[in-house]
Amino acid sequence: MASRLLKTLLILVILSFASSREDGSFVFNGFRGVNLSLDGFASVMPDGLLVLTNASSQAIGHAFHPKPFKFKSDTTPATTLSFSTTFVFAIIPKYSYISGKGLVFVVSHTTDFSTALPAQYMALFNLSDNGNATNHVLGIELDTIANSEFQDINDNHVGIDVNSLQSTNSTGAGYYDDSTGAFQNMTLASSVPMQIWVDYEGEDMQLNVTLAPVPMAKPNKPLLSSTIDLSSVMMDSMYVGFSSANGHLLTTHCVLGWSFKMNGIAEPLDYAKLPPLPLSDSKHKSQKLAIWLPLASCTFSLLVVATVVLVVKRRIKYAELLEDWEQEYGPHRFSYKELFRATKGFKDKTLLGSGGFGKVYQGVLPSSKVEVAVKRISHESRQGMKEFVAEIVSIGQLRHRNVVQLLGYCRRKGELLLVYDYMPNGSLDGFLYDKTRPALSWAQRFRIIKGVASGLLYLHEDWEQIVVHRDIKASNVLLDSGLNGQLGDFGLARLYDHGTDAHTTHIVGTMGYLAPELTSTGKATTKTDVFAFGAFLLEVACGRRPVEPGAEGQQVLLLDWVLENWKRGTLLATGDSRLAGDFPVEEMEAVLKLGLLCSHPSPDARPTMRQVMHFLDGDSTMPELPPAYTSIGVPSQIQREGFDDYTMSSSSSVSHMFSLSGGG
Ligand SMILES: *[C@@H]1O[C@H](CO)[C@@H](O)[C@H](O)[C@H]1NC(C)=O
Ligand SMILES: *[C@@H]1O[C@H](CO)[C@@H](O)[C@H](O)[C@H]1NC(C)=O
Ligand SMILES: *[C@@H]1O[C@H](CO)[C@@H](O)[C@H](O)[C@H]1NC(C)=O
Ligand SMILES: *[C@@H]1O[C@H](CO)[C@@H](O)[C@H](O)[C@H]1NC(C)=O
Ligand SMILES: *[C@@H]1O[C@H](CO)[C@@H](O)[C@H](O)[C@H]1NC(C)=O
Ligand SMILES: *[C@@H]1O[C@H](CO)[C@@H](O)[C@H](O)[C@H]1NC(C)=O
Ligand SMILES: *[C@@H]1O[C@H](CO)[C@@H](O)[C@H](O)[C@H]1NC(C)=O
Repeated sequence: MASRLLKTLLILVILSFASSREDGSFVFNGFRGVNLSLDGFASVMPDGLLVLTNASSQAIGHAFHPKPFKFKSDTTPATTLSFSTTFVFAIIPKYSYISGKGLVFVVSHTTDFSTALPAQYMALFNLSDNGNATNHVLGIELDTIANSEFQDINDNHVGIDVNSLQSTNSTGAGYYDDSTGAFQNMTLASSVPMQIWVDYEGEDMQLNVTLAPVPMAKPNKPLLSSTIDLSSVMMDSMYVGFSSANGHLLTTHCVLGWSFKMNGIAEPLDYAKLPPLPLSDSKHKSQKLAIWLPLASCTFSLLVVATVVLVVKRRIKYAELLEDWEQEYGPHRFSYKELFRATKGFKDKTLLGSGGFGKVYQGVLPSSKVEVAVKRISHESRQGMKEFVAEIVSIGQLRHRNVVQLLGYCRRKGELLLVYDYMPNGSLDGFLYDKTRPALSWAQRFRIIKGVASGLLYLHEDWEQIVVHRDIKASNVLLDSGLNGQLGDFGLARLYDHGTDAHTTHIVGTMGYLAPELTSTGKATTKTDVFAFGAFLLEVACGRRPVEPGAEGQQVLLLDWVLENWKRGTLLATGDSRLAGDFPVEEMEAVLKLGLLCSHPSPDARPTMRQVMHFLDGDSTMPELPPAYTSIGVPSQIQREGFDDYTMSSSSSVSHMFSLSGGG
């Protein structure tokens, strides 16, 4: 009897928080006791907060309503039915300035996303099925990273995804104010709750997406309004839910409440019943200050407190990590304050771009008036930091006209700042792919190629120790005022080699530039650098990225395409069309063949950088390519395993960090 009463009570409690009805609708004001189908890191906290991914690396999570809904009418031909949903979410990055990938509202014919990849694939698709019409997935993405491979517009946008991560329509996050009509920006990854409404009208095929801060009434003008025929996407029975993924940038994605309805308007949420958000560290701090202030009852103590607060704030603002072992690097160590001032407080207008491992800012050192580029890298592990800093300081002593000078570094909690010479013309990929800029002539390209080869030869053979670059690609080649190529970003990859446990090997590099043995052994060598250099040669000669999307969402390797043309005797046809045939045929042919030779699947077949230099200078003749040369295609491990999201807005190349479990 008592247990029965308890059961009834429990059901009543559950019903007061959540209700799911047979008429194709539900309202969850918090998820306590709600039957959801969860996978990955997704879980419901005791207070009813649905957490899709917590701040764990490579975390993915899905949460679906356990029962599918009927999305097609019974008429012939079946039309897509209308639906409407609204939910309150929050994206809480571990570090306030940079966040993991984001959150997607999903309508899908399946809840099984076990073959999907994390990071920029948002746990929805993988390399081979992204874009495939057989996916039957509609996504509304709340995306906080700009991935150039999916033509993301920025690192804070809302997009409509149909079977693909390349949005059919997207726009910066924000809303239109009802009274003024003005557009108000919003920052998705700001740790505050926001609400989104997704409404689809089946008859006129209109899909509206509206965003607003909580608690604000739904703005009249939607953020996105698209006419989309979903009849081929929707099947009769479809699941609704959420998908979310982290890369190495740690972010908690959560949903506080969710309402859904077929053929009608989703019921509004009751904000008072929504669970609270977990407090982030920075919030704890500001709350403590807020409690302190009222205690100061007279003007004097207020003044004292204000001064203390100012001092503390200044301390926090300029705080850095400096340990004993760093004393010896005195001259290479910059103070955070100096870099903060140099870049005007890391203001957006000093942002040169974000790529590779973090954001890069332009600055002028206050003391010496030297123009510099400052790279901010988020890095939470202190393990191996000593070795890494020793290495970058030693690399900082490298001097070569084709190697970007590293001037020094600074360390703070969770981040590392590297200071480089400023390169006024930016990176080579900007010139190769930005159609608004004049195309580089062949002579300019050939000079850049030779410069990069000579810089790499210096790293491999001419300096006192062998330096493996690990991430050669067009976006890591910077152009000085005379358009000479300079290699940048070397050694950074090592940062992510340190501090990994015995069961995982992080292979750092970029898709299309990764030698096959690197993906299996995880060991970067001068030979893997030569492989990447080969891909770089093809990239510069062809004006194409090493991996491009082909038909049916398959990835096509530039190497394969050039190889095919070489076998067919149409090698020269692969030259960049922007050159309009204006190049010495022998030079173009030599560069293309050298690219193939350097990117040979067998490390032993690849030349050394010294031999490469001789071939480019015409001092020795290149060997013929072996007729049995075949490529290996996209390594299968990479298709299966995780990706990271170190691909950002202005670095237009595809850049990933792979994490291979159980590797050497
Ligand atoms: C994230 O969740 C997993 C499992 O749910 C747990 O093992 C891990 O400790 C959590 N990490 C953090 C940072 O909360
Ligand atoms: C949750 O819903 C699914 C699908 O309706 C059902 O099979 C399962 O038994 C439910 N689980 C609980 C704990 O009610
Ligand atoms: C892509 O779709 C086609 C049919 O449209 C299917 O045959 C193929 O297997 C799909 N490819 C993948 C990788 O899912
Ligand atoms: C809103 O964001 C856009 C894109 O980031 C920016 O160009 C614009 O200046 C911002 N507007 C305001 C009022 O902050
Ligand atoms: C979408 O927004 C437009 C413009 O505000 C509105 O006229 C239309 O009724 C909306 N459609 C849906 C399905 O909400
Ligand atoms: C994309 O959304 C904007 C803003 O709602 C709208 O004006 C535009 O027509 C949409 N584009 C497409 C292709 O649907
Ligand atoms: C990609 O996902 C599809 C399912 O959509 C699966 O059939 C395929 O095996 C996956 N590919 C890889 C390489 O995991």
